[in-house]
Amino acid sequence: EAVSARTAAIIEDHLQREAPLLPILHDVQVEFGYVPEIALRLVAEKLNLSRAEVHGVMSFYHDFRREPAGHHVLKICRAEACQSMGGEALADGLRAALGLDWHETTADGRLTLEPVYCLGLCSCAPAAMLDDAIYGRLDEATLKDVVAEAGQ
Ligand code: FES
Repeated sequence: EAVSARTAAIIEDHLQREAPLLPILHDVQVEFGYVPEIALRLVAEKLNLSRAEVHGVMSFYHDFRREPAGHHVLKICRAEACQSMGGEALADGLRAALGLDWHETTADGRLTLEPVYCLGLCSCAPAAMLDDAIYGRLDEATLKDVVAEAGQ
């Protein structure tokens, strides 16, 4: 109920804008930390969009979450400079080790893994960010240390 009421108020705030979808989704995520299914449905209904359309927009912009994040969020850069320095293999190894895919959270709720597309640290690729802290020149060992900071 609270989610519906808050979401309805947020939609109301933006409905007069020319392109209200992104600002609405943004505010919903700020409010709840993610975009709950019930909010997604309400947004679709009010904007006369299908749920698939709203979901498509959310997937396109990688910052939207459909579930609450874990206690820590680890973002691994998947943009070009980091890829060319082995970032993808590094991420693959970590995903396998944690048993997580992108946007998933460990079973104990401590760590969410997310992709990011350039952290502005290209000269120190491959790069990642744990919560607010940025790490560059990562390799398997240093990435493991970063993950250990998050208690994993
Ligand atoms: Fe990874 Fe720029 S491409 S930090």
